[in-house]
Amino acid sequence: MRLPLVELHLHLEGTLEPELIFELAERNGVALPWGSLDELREQYAFSDLQTFLNLYYANLDVVRTRADFALLTTRYLERAAAGGVRHAEVFFDPQAHTSRGVELGEALGGVHDALQDGERTLGISSKLIVAFLRDRPAAEALDVLKQVLAGPVPVDGIGLDSAEVGYPPELFAEVFALGKANGLRLVAHAGEEGPPAYVWTALDLLGVERVDHGIRSLEDDALVQRLVDERMPLTVCPLSNVRLRVVETIADHPLPQMLELGLLVTVNSDDPAYFGGYIDDNMAALQEAFGLSAAQRALLARNGVEASFLDPAGKAQLF
Ligand code: HPA
Ligand code: ZN
Repeated sequence: MRLPLVELHLHLEGTLEPELIFELAERNGVALPWGSLDELREQYAFSDLQTFLNLYYANLDVVRTRADFALLTTRYLERAAAGGVRHAEVFFDPQAHTSRGVELGEALGGVHDALQDGERTLGISSKLIVAFLRDRPAAEALDVLKQVLAGPVPVDGIGLDSAEVGYPPELFAEVFALGKANGLRLVAHAGEEGPPAYVWTALDLLGVERVDHGIRSLEDDALVQRLVDERMPLTVCPLSNVRLRVVETIADHPLPQMLELGLLVTVNSDDPAYFGGYIDDNMAALQEAFGLSAAQRALLARNGVEASFLDPAGKAQLF
């Protein structure tokens, strides 16, 4: 039996492939700073999270209309389906678009339409998580959340992403309290470049139900114990960690050690158009580096299903 692949850490904006950047630039009449695909691809050597984010935000200039957001989402779902993904809980960054003049409803509406279509035509169920940019003011995040809650597009959860160090989770306590009061599921990036202290406060002051990345938790034994005891999922992204220099090579990745410690680890792709691969590519890279056993592969698949926000019937359908 083919194991079900569940994607729990994927930024839709991070699926914007170089080819689609050129396609959208053409259709929207946007002049790109790159003369060719190769010239654009030369920019993809990152030294840390910030150097990646600079390109990630700049490239979004070509994504403008409701149809563009739908196309971005559909292209992702088609690639995910080809790689065996059955369920995807995707991040979308409203502020990356509203801050450059795109209407929230156009952006979110295009994504939502495409997710609905994908469920019907590709058989991929999905959940939509709006993520707030932690390097922008919390007051802006609160305002965007209120607009989302008042708008026509239903969302399933909220998250926290962008530059981590210097922007601890607790800055967004009010935003997360409002999300929780409205029945939204709560996640946050923590412990990617930031210290274990950020994982503690994401748990204690935001009340997150999953930690995105969280690999620096390994530096704090008491934190690891707590994550194990609470069966707190960590959405780990191996190829991202290599490309953003969180770990040196895939062979140095602590994923086997994390499984050994009993952490509820899942494998995900983060920003596949930027980091060299989708979730199936991440699994293949781990397989090549570590020769995962059938039991380890099955455990990772089970963890993905368990850590999802599907209800029990939805989880049962995947296995
Ligand atoms: N980390 C933080 N913010 C992000 C990322 C990431 O890997 N990708 C897109 N926004
Ligand atoms: Zn991420």
